[in-house]
Amino acid sequence: MHVTATLPAPNTTPTAAAPTAAAAPVLPPLQIGPLTIESPVVLAPMAGITNRAFRRLCREYGTEGLAAGGASGAKSLYVSEMITSRALVERTPETMRLIEHDPDEQPRSVQLYSVDPATTAAAARILVQEDRADHIDMNFGCPVPKVTRKGGGSALPWKRDLFRAIVRAAVTEGAKRDVPVTVKMRIGIDDDHLTYLDAGRIAEAEGAAAVALHARTAAQAYSGQARWEAITRLKETVTSIPVLGNGDIWSAEDAIAMVAQTGADGVVVGRGCLGRPWLFTDLAAAFAGSNARVQPTLGEVTVTLRRHAEYLTDFYDGDELRACRDIRKHIAWYLKGFRAGSSVRNQLALVNSLTDLDGLIATLDLTAPWPGEAAEGPRGRAGSPRVVALPDGWLDSPELSETQRRQVAEAELSVSGG
Ligand SMILES: Cc1cc2nc3c(=O)[nH]c(=O)nc-3n(C[C@H](O)[C@H](O)[C@H](O)COP(=O)(O)O)c2cc1C
Repeated sequence: MHVTATLPAPNTTPTAAAPTAAAAPVLPPLQIGPLTIESPVVLAPMAGITNRAFRRLCREYGTEGLAAGGASGAKSLYVSEMITSRALVERTPETMRLIEHDPDEQPRSVQLYSVDPATTAAAARILVQEDRADHIDMNFGCPVPKVTRKGGGSALPWKRDLFRAIVRAAVTEGAKRDVPVTVKMRIGIDDDHLTYLDAGRIAEAEGAAAVALHARTAAQAYSGQARWEAITRLKETVTSIPVLGNGDIWSAEDAIAMVAQTGADGVVVGRGCLGRPWLFTDLAAAFAGSNARVQPTLGEVTVTLRRHAEYLTDFYDGDELRACRDIRKHIAWYLKGFRAGSSVRNQLALVNSLTDLDGLIATLDLTAPWPGEAAEGPRGRAGSPRVVALPDGWLDSPELSETQRRQVAEAELSVSGG
């Protein structure tokens, strides 16, 4: 039986949940190099989502919200959306905004996407030498066709030497100031071209501090189900560093089930927290051995939505319109399962100012209770399986040809999403 806790209002102490019998932590803290992550939960990097504003919201629920679960203050890891190494090296204004952290954000985590060792080293150097990050995650999971077509993202680990050289470059730069580097990847390109076990071994040998597996192939994109059994295999294969499981965690119960089933040292949670940042309260509680869960009313959900919009306004240097354009994509996730007419939903999805947002929120039935089932389960991107676009002859050999080397260098330009 779940004991429910009330969603905390901003800047107030969360309402305490009823005490629960078991309080033994489910897992020990996660050790990522020198960083101790008390609650073994990681916010997955999500392009266009996990900016400083959203991370702040998740952090608040992961720490302050946890007071409701009885083990307050436990920290998790909240990774930035992916940063293209080349754009960082070029210091484009948008990239410099994306690598910002709140003053109280600790550890400061940045995900890099890269396809060549030299650019990786240059980008990692900026983060490390200029003291801009405490943790670097490397993205080898992107299934977007315009990336894989050039050999980047989830296509890259197939070329084992290139993969090794990129990981080595990042680890070498990180080591200069004790900044740990982790690797995030998929199972492989498709069922006939699995890469994760070799990639896991290589990452471990090159000094990565942890590996995270999104248990799908690139061909699966976001369709079907994550194959948690692959996380088990990876855990059996990579034994000296933490293995993190990722894919289809929609609730704290799913996270606990994944750990029980796979033996993973921690979990990485993406779509499950879209429009539901208080999932981090539930996750922290669950890993602390508590069964307190947050089940907010619509009024409490809209307080969070409003706060998210405010944080985005701050993130965009006071540009309210830009913040509102950003919050629009979150509306359907926040309202999932609640009764709200299509007219108000449509208007919310076109909102232009915080005042408009307030006016529209005021028309909702704010007393509506958490809808239960209707609000649970999958949210966000789904999609269908596909044939993975790859450079000509990519699968012929795990070695990189000269032509392929040139092609892959182009893969770093204008990418987004994982
Ligand atoms: C909107 C969106 C953007 C994403 N962007 C990134 C990214 O920038 N880097 C990355 O490694 N993965 C990215 N991913 C993949 C997620 O990090 C995660 O691996 C995937 O969603 C599976 O986890 P989940 O089932 O918990 O969502 C993205 C996923 C989504 C839905």
